[in-house]
Amino acid sequence: MKIVIIEDEKTKRITMNDALIKDGYNVESFEEPVVAISYLKESEVDLVITDIRLPQMDGFEVLQKVKEMNQNIAVVMMTAFGTIESAVEAMKLGAYDYLTKPFSTDQLLLLVKKISRFKKLEEENVSLKEKLKERYSFHNIIGKSKPMQDLYDLIETISSSDVAVFIEGNSGTGKEMVANAIHYNSTRKDGPFIKLSCALLNESLLESELFGHEKGAFTGAIKFKKGRFELAHSGTIFLDDVDDIPVSSQVKLLRLLQEKEFERVGGNTTIKTDVRFICATKVDLWEKVKLNQFREDLYYRLRVMPVKLPPLCERREDIPLLINHFLKKVNKTNLHFTPDAIELLTTYHWPGNVRQLENSIYRITALIKGKEITKEMIPNDLILPKDEKTVFDFSKSNQINLDKMIQEIELSAINWACEKSNKNQSKAAELLGIKRTTLRDKMKKYNLL
Ligand SMILES: Nc1ncnc2c1ncn2[C@@H]1O[C@H](COP(=O)(O)OP(=O)(O)OP(=O)(O)O)[C@@H](O)[C@H]1O
Ligand SMILES: [Mg+2]
Repeated sequence: MKIVIIEDEKTKRITMNDALIKDGYNVESFEEPVVAISYLKESEVDLVITDIRLPQMDGFEVLQKVKEMNQNIAVVMMTAFGTIESAVEAMKLGAYDYLTKPFSTDQLLLLVKKISRFKKLEEENVSLKEKLKERYSFHNIIGKSKPMQDLYDLIETISSSDVAVFIEGNSGTGKEMVANAIHYNSTRKDGPFIKLSCALLNESLLESELFGHEKGAFTGAIKFKKGRFELAHSGTIFLDDVDDIPVSSQVKLLRLLQEKEFERVGGNTTIKTDVRFICATKVDLWEKVKLNQFREDLYYRLRVMPVKLPPLCERREDIPLLINHFLKKVNKTNLHFTPDAIELLTTYHWPGNVRQLENSIYRITALIKGKEITKEMIPNDLILPKDEKTVFDFSKSNQINLDKMIQEIELSAINWACEKSNKNQSKAAELLGIKRTTLRDKMKKYNLL
């Protein structure tokens, strides 16, 4: 602990200084408060022990200046008998304690020891709080990167409300996991959590799934069936790939959101339901709104609280953590990846995100006989798709802006090469199979220089 003494009385100052140094503290003593203050401005100090009556500046002013500089510096006032009121006043202004003159060396050492212990506790408390704040997982969702920390906070905040949540993220980024976490963290956690993927369901099948149907409602409806909204009553409904809902069914969904009621397919009875909506999509739904393929009013109703999941390549520091998590999941904790293998897996761009990483880990570990997995043991086709075309899946696209897409690919490839080559332009150009001058031209175009 670093201590500063401000005392104009020479013998007192020297006695205190020596006693504290003997007890193992780091001490600086000053006769003049002005000099002490300028010293404090430049040094890291934990405790200031100051006389109240001083030349030029009194102890109160010292206290005020110290607190302005750094709230965490403890200040002890020394006061002569008969001026205890002013010491009490000083404590009100933020002093830690006071010593009434005359005091013995033991009294001084005892007080300093108490402060030292208190400071230690305070520091431990701060670091504990910081550790608590930095979460590595949340409801089985793994990740310690900033976007994941922010995600955990957001899930906590929105779970306690009943607003419609709209999860956006590429394939395999963990949308379903987030939907689960929101439901099981919410007040509806004891109610049902019903899921439905709207992908590839035609209008009548989708409506029958969502709203249920009466017996004989259509050919093949031999029995009455409850729909997902009815089953989800008092709980949460998770509509995955919500962008795939046909326009004709969107009107019915909108009514349900607004009126909280619906009829089964082929039925007249109005059924009331109380459900919380969580939707997910891999596409930019606004693009569909612009093309009149998704109702704007429904878009706003569903997207009250958007939650964006970042692709894995934007949170690479989570990859080693995820690898360990998946090793545990398949009971392969006896296996470990060598640093160069981890490095390879961490620098890959993972177009299929966490799901692809998970499957890759399972595939790699299934083949391994020993305990160590080196870079060479990672199958090439696993992390470097032979055919880059497999990365693009246009089956769900409505329209493609080719120019924009080419630019995006070019930009990601350049970023990838720069990262991989540690910003060495010749190396990056080589990795991309182009000339360095061509790379520079492209980097200029994208403002990367
Ligand atoms: N942050 C994560 N921590 C641990 N596992 C994860 C994480 N994100 C995803 N996973 C795993 O990856 C797989 C895919 O996750 P999930 O189904 O939630 O993704 P998704 O975004 O819904 O994918 P899709 O778009 O293909 O439907 C799951 O097996 C899940 O366990
Ligand atoms: Mg999913």
